Amino acid sequence: MALLETLWPLFGLHLKTPRLVLRPLRDEDIPHYVDAAASGIYERVNGHIPFPTAWAESPELGPTAARWIWENRIKSRPESWTVMFGVWSSAGEFLGSQDVAAKNFAALRTVTTGSWLRRSDQGRGLGKEMRAAVLLWCFDSLGAEVAMTSTFEWNAPSIGVSRSLGYEPNGEARLETSLGVVEREVRFRLAQERFQRPPWELRVEGHEAAAAALGIPEERGGHPARLDGGDDDGDGGGPRMS
Ligand SMILES: CC(C)(COP(=O)(O)OP(=O)(O)OC[C@H]1O[C@@H](n2cnc3c(N)ncnc32)[C@H](O)[C@@H]1OP(=O)(O)O)[C@@H](O)C(=O)NCCC(=O)NCCS
Repeated sequence: MALLETLWPLFGLHLKTPRLVLRPLRDEDIPHYVDAAASGIYERVNGHIPFPTAWAESPELGPTAARWIWENRIKSRPESWTVMFGVWSSAGEFLGSQDVAAKNFAALRTVTTGSWLRRSDQGRGLGKEMRAAVLLWCFDSLGAEVAMTSTFEWNAPSIGVSRSLGYEPNGEARLETSLGVVEREVRFRLAQERFQRPPWELRVEGHEAAAAALGIPEERGGHPARLDGGDDDGDGGGPRMS
């Protein structure tokens, strides 16, 4: 019988950094996602929270999270996709989530990212490491040219990740997050050539089949990151807030 990752090739995608493993969330990962979110993602700053809704505090967190993961998975098509990566420590502990989304990627070559870490793992450079991982995959393996992100103006760690990776300010918007509560959202843009690359190398497994599932033919990809199971010489083929 075929393996699930043969039928749904995104499940075979693995991104490995010095301290982290990122791979698209499977159903058996959902309880870990829910536990990590329930353990606490933020402390309110003057009543503000970093997301448009307080989903992580909801008594309905389990079904809400499962529905969000399933929705993003089943709606993904070449013309519009979201890959929801789970983020694990190298020792296998679930730490958080890092999303990458794109619409009309074939023409626009633009991705948008969103992420969170459980509170106990914040402030140790892991948010930067996981964003750098998906940027390396997008720029070097998928052939992205631009990455976008946004956050609320008071979210210093999120802005810190963006600034330290080379993003530039790209305007702002006002969002009514709940009745009468208006937040200022700041937007950032990273052109591939401005990316402040990390000093480590990303290891990528399962890229070719995953990219094909997203409708990105190999020859349109960029310069592949190090791809496991192939050459190691680098030429072997190959509501979202930051
Ligand atoms: C946003 C988040 C993913 C960032 O991850 P993190 O691990 O806490 O951040 P890092 O430790 O990787 O820090 C990355 C950079 O931001 C800087 N930074 C972190 N916290 C900061 C703060 N409070 N003030 C200023 N800079 C800060 C760091 O110095 C680092 O920059 P450097 O490499 O140039 O020194 C994480 O804090 C989080 O999950 N927050 C709650 C959920 C959230 O806000 N998600 C984003 C929604 S938009």
